[in-house]
Amino acid sequence: MFRVPFFVRRESMTDGQRTANSYNFIVGQAQFYGRSLERWDMKIMMLNEVVQDAINEQINNELFAMYSYLSMSAYCEHKQFRGCAHWMRLQSQEEYAHAMRLYDFLIVRQGRVKLRPIAQPEIDFASVADTFQKALAQEQNVTQQINSLYELAFNEKAFAALVELEWFINEQVEEEKTARDIVYKFHLVKDDPAALLDLDRELGARQPAPATAPA
Ligand SMILES: [Fe+2]
Ligand SMILES: [Fe+2]
Repeated sequence: MFRVPFFVRRESMTDGQRTANSYNFIVGQAQFYGRSLERWDMKIMMLNEVVQDAINEQINNELFAMYSYLSMSAYCEHKQFRGCAHWMRLQSQEEYAHAMRLYDFLIVRQGRVKLRPIAQPEIDFASVADTFQKALAQEQNVTQQINSLYELAFNEKAFAALVELEWFINEQVEEEKTARDIVYKFHLVKDDPAALLDLDRELGARQPAPATAPA
């Protein structure tokens, strides 16, 4: 590119030099602002690859929980425990909502949602009571996953993700408590048919959770 030496006064330039000088100035400005814009774009993207990958992994974990509860529901249906099956089916829908909450969060932060295959859940259980025991273990596992994700977001200074994940931390406290309470009831009733039928009826009365908009 033709450049006019900086010491040449504008008045003493030829027309051609003036044109070239103006052109260089405009190109320089465009390059400068172009670079700033690029940096600005990077900034508004905010979620770095590490955080995005971890959130995508958690979407997969929540979808696996969704699949797993659905499998437990199918088992309960098979054992004629319709109330328990209903409870598990609603829980499966809640897990889907958790996955979608993270899905929407990635989109709103200009991240990329990358869906992966969902692993096959367990199909056979020792008993209906065992499905709830497995549900509790699964919730405890998800709590660990959320804690690790929170720690990673904290280390990466992904502050918006931290706020979003606080909802999940609270949710896990509730999920674990609910599952633990049901496991305890199964433990109390043991094999008493009348008490089991009562418990099945109680679990069958579960209502769907009100839809919560993503934060
Ligand atoms: Fe969940
Ligand atoms: Fe859960």
